[in-house]
Amino acid sequence: MQGKFITLEGIEGSGKSTNLETVKSILDQYKIDYVLTREPGGGPLGPHLRKLLLDKDQSISPSVEMLLMMADRKDHVDNLINPNLDKGIWVISDRYLDSTIAYQGGGRQLDINLITSLSASLKLPTPDFTLLFDLPVDVALERAKERSELDRFEREPLDFHSRIRESYLELASTNNRIKTIDSSKDFETVSIQVENYLNEFLNA
Ligand code: TMP
Repeated sequence: MQGKFITLEGIEGSGKSTNLETVKSILDQYKIDYVLTREPGGGPLGPHLRKLLLDKDQSISPSVEMLLMMADRKDHVDNLINPNLDKGIWVISDRYLDSTIAYQGGGRQLDINLITSLSASLKLPTPDFTLLFDLPVDVALERAKERSELDRFEREPLDFHSRIRESYLELASTNNRIKTIDSSKDFETVSIQVENYLNEFLNA
């Protein structure tokens, strides 16, 4: 049987990486065999592409940025995501295609049809289940700033991040696989929301 493909999405500082621990502990309770991965960076070429894409000193046009994200994804899908799903191993990815729609489509204002048609031509799989961590942009960016030196995306102005948030919420309103978590709450309350949605998916 094919493994399931789960993705975590959200703006900078939305808490997706922190909540990965909750996701892991639930999958462990169900004794599910899974791999954890992330984008950009999950395939063999990933570390090089990630370094380039996040480097604050690089100047990259929106189209090239989108193509590099898609190249990273194709490498990731062919070498890690599909081989594991085919073996029945679940794949949990911190970011995937919805990030390109939100960041390069919403944030950089590229044509979303270009992204979705490229994704269809490359035969990229659709996640079975997605958790979207959502909170106001100003709160999220404050959290991101406390973490470490800001990367090329984190340095963008507030309206860039606001467009990304809007784009994610629009995606969630039209895709039933995407479950929106109110990430402005305390850790415990957020964890409970993650647990509830994941249990619902696992028991469906
Ligand atoms: P991370 O910091 O959450 O690991 O993500 C790396 C950055 O890359 C983050 O700012 C979002 C951005 N990104 C895109 O712009 N498009 C994409 O398709 C992906 C996967 C990430």
